[in-house]
Amino acid sequence: MTEAADPARARLDAATAHLEPPFAVVDLDAFDANAADLLRRAGGKPVRLASKSVRVRALIERALGAGLQGILAFTLPEALWLARHGHDDLVVAYPTADRAALRELAGVEGGGRDRIRERVTVMVDSREHLDAIRAAGASAAAPVRVCLDVDAGWWPLGGRGPRIGAKRSPLHTPAAAAALAREIAARPELVLDGLMSYEAHIAGVGDRPPGRLGALAGAAIAGMQSASGRELAARRAEVVAAVSAVAPLRFVNGGGTGSVERTAAEAAVTEVAAGSGLFAPTLFDAYRSFTPRPAALFALPVVRRPSAGVATVLGGGYLASGAAGGDRLPRPVLPAGLRLDRQEGAGEVQTPVTGEAARTLRVGDRVWFRHAKAGELCERFDAVHLIRGGAVVETVPTYRGEGCTFL
Ligand SMILES: Cc1ncc(COP(=O)(O)O)c(C=O)c1O
Repeated sequence: MTEAADPARARLDAATAHLEPPFAVVDLDAFDANAADLLRRAGGKPVRLASKSVRVRALIERALGAGLQGILAFTLPEALWLARHGHDDLVVAYPTADRAALRELAGVEGGGRDRIRERVTVMVDSREHLDAIRAAGASAAAPVRVCLDVDAGWWPLGGRGPRIGAKRSPLHTPAAAAALAREIAARPELVLDGLMSYEAHIAGVGDRPPGRLGALAGAAIAGMQSASGRELAARRAEVVAAVSAVAPLRFVNGGGTGSVERTAAEAAVTEVAAGSGLFAPTLFDAYRSFTPRPAALFALPVVRRPSAGVATVLGGGYLASGAAGGDRLPRPVLPAGLRLDRQEGAGEVQTPVTGEAARTLRVGDRVWFRHAKAGELCERFDAVHLIRGGAVVETVPTYRGEGCTFL
């Protein structure tokens, strides 16, 4: 292995010298600092952990131990699995059409499900969702908790013009939300537990994008976000008032890593959600208001040298979801000064890296990468090695390593 001049690289290489790449690590010092920063940014409002952005039970437990409260799960089978592992206060962030999981939740199948039913809340935004829960066997004697998902998008010209935001819930107005709340209240097999509205276009879009036109694009994004944020704060308060007049709400959830302080400042919001800020993948480098510490990395071995200026590592094509683009590619970060090859990008089995530092790499050296998103990295590895200071202190399974591929 070549001499590592960079102390960050030297520390990672030394801590993991006994491991054969490919492997993934999480730096616990960075993870803990990021958890503390999310809580600081929330200014005292509870932060619910978005589990999709972690996908490692030991690290979910660590984040909860650090002060995050409750879990925003991504599928119902995942929530049921976490509940069986003793977790509480699980809100499934996305609606489900999984009949078997709904039957399990409703308690029709399996024994001893009652307590689990009280610990899991499912997302709804339409009658179809309510009907599916009834069809799964929920009853007045065994009611299922539901959370109303309300669209947080921005319609600058009212309903007739462009709609900015993720295409999720059809419920946009206080009247539409209250109407579905009344429908829920009229069904004895359901309990209205909470309300969620996630502003993806604010929380998940950085206002400091990289690139030549980054400053211009950043100003436009920041302008859109503050106009939308103002509209949303007013509408969210009206939605919460209208729904609360139908039934009391245990929680009102909003936001994500990119909007923690803004969302937490709204009086109508009782808790914010966040997860990505713990691993701090590359997409979260692009925000002006906070700078998380990169905590999750993966190491790939150099396996060949096609030419003096190119080193090729094994694997690497761990692309992030979303609209395809350069920002979804993993980024080689150590040694510093490496780039992906424009033509090959991150490859299925091999990834060439170029740049000055590539000249110094030898077969057997490691290249350290960061993923563009957080939990998706864990779908590529059975385990993550937890580093503290200069050593691996524990190796823990990812969801995948526990045989659980929920998505
Ligand atoms: C419903 C919901 N809430 C919150 C978040 C924020 O999660 P993170 O902090 O990992 O970006 C997401 C992310 O997609 C989401 O879908």
